[in-house]
Formats: sequence, C-alpha cells, structure tokens
Amino acid sequence: MLIAQITDLHIRPRGRLAYGRVDTNGMLEACVASIRALPRQPDVLLISGDLTDCGLAEEYAVLREILAPLTMPVYVIPGNHDRRETLRAAFADHGYLPNGGGYLNYVIDDHPVRLIGLDTVVAGEGFGEMDQARLDWLATTLAAGGARPTVIFMHHPPFITGIASMDAINCRGGDGLAAIVDRFANVERVLAGHHHRPVQIRWAGTIGMVAPSPAHQVMLDLDGVEADAKIKMEPPAYCLHQWTPETGTISHQCYVGTFDGPWPFTLDPDYPAYKG
Ligand SMILES: [Fe+2]
Ligand SMILES: [Fe+2]
Repeated sequence: MLIAQITDLHIRPRGRLAYGRVDTNGMLEACVASIRALPRQPDVLLISGDLTDCGLAEEYAVLREILAPLTMPVYVIPGNHDRRETLRAAFADHGYLPNGGGYLNYVIDDHPVRLIGLDTVVAGEGFGEMDQARLDWLATTLAAGGARPTVIFMHHPPFITGIASMDAINCRGGDGLAAIVDRFANVERVLAGHHHRPVQIRWAGTIGMVAPSPAHQVMLDLDGVEADAKIKMEPPAYCLHQWTPETGTISHQCYVGTFDGPWPFTLDPDYPAYKG
C-alpha cells in the first residue's frame, strides 16, 4: 500500500497570495502534477490539515479544483487555518467525515493499513489539543482495530520538535496521547503537519513524523528561544509512506520541482567496483 501525505497547503482565493507573498495555489498545482507523474500512483492521499489559509468557502472550492486531477481516495483533516464546518461542507461528498458538528475524527478500514484521522483543532486558536473526549475516542478506536497495521494522522504534532516557536503551538495533551499509542504496537506512524518542516522522532513506541509543506516552510531554528516563526522558501515537498506485510512502513520525502535527470550511473573505470 502506498500512502501519499501532503500537508499545509494554505490555499487562497484565486489570484491571492498567502502572507502577501506565497503562491500556495500554484505550488499545490505543481505538487499535484508531481504526484500524477509518479511511476506508481499512491493508493490513498492523506491531507493533514491547513488545507486553506483562512478557512473560506472560496478557498475550499479552489482546493477541490486543484485536487480534481487526482484519482485516488483523499482523506482530509482540519488544521488551525481551517474552519471545521466550512471544511465539512466543502467535502460533503466525503462520506467518511462525521456529521453532527463534532470533531472530524474517523477511521478508514478499506485498505491494508488502517487509517485514523484525528481532529486536533481548537476553534480560534493556533495550538491544537487532544482533550479527554478525543483521547477516549482514539483509545476505543485503536482497541477495535485489533492488531491491524495502523497509521494515525493529525495536524498538530503531539511531540516536541525543538523548534520552540512552533512547539509553543503544538498539540496539547500529547502525553495523554502518547500513553494510549504506547499500548498499541501496531501503530506504524503518527503523521502530522503544522510545523512546515520534515521531522522524525521516536515517540510513544512508534515513529512520529512531521511532513514538509508543498508551499512555504518554517525556518529551522533550534536555539530554543520562543520567537516568532519565520517563513523560508526551502524546497516544497511531500511524503510517501509505503507499507508491505514484509517490511512494515517505509517513509520517503519527495521534492516538488523540475530537476535534472534521471541519468544512468555511468561508472568511471577508477571506481573500485568497476566491472567493465
Ligand atoms: Fe500550516
Ligand atoms: Fe497549522
């Protein structure tokens, strides 16, 4: 099973830039083209929050247009830049999303890897939270899945990354989440976004990952001082997570752009393993 993960798209109305400078719409179009050009199409696409920049209906409409060329099932969860009910309405045809105005938590049991989407949003706040209701839902959902390999995806990382400006607005209640995840050895990954950088950590008996954005990144600052986060236009990227029964999950980072190659490895005769 091949799982693509894109995150932090920050889509804007047509003709508008994010933060007055980032062409997030055009950058997602390039990302979609990059995914469509992969030698093997992903079986599913996870979008781990901040689908739009301001949660406007117009932005979700633009997002749906940009995603339209993709043919695999798409699973979305909200981030702090989304508005839960506007997102829900924009994806009314996505039957896995719960109705009723509550959290957009769900489980997908249609694939070899069980997919659990967690809604960490606290309306009106930049930080996220796993409160007791959401923790209870996850514990029950994980228990119901038996030993099936499972990927959890959420917007706010529930772990510290060392980037103080972003850790200040990560997912509160991370310790409670870790205590639950640690009981389930079948959790292959906890995938997040929000930090706009590639990060990996050993956490709660599994691997926690943050995926970079196909748009702007957050400047890497590990001095531990909680200053304002800064945008840096490092290479746009997304993740591919490949699962097989033999290997478990293997994660790759994929850059979006036009690069030279592919070229054959034309070996120099001086190479120690040269065979002629
Ligand atoms: Fe974001
Ligand atoms: Fe975010």
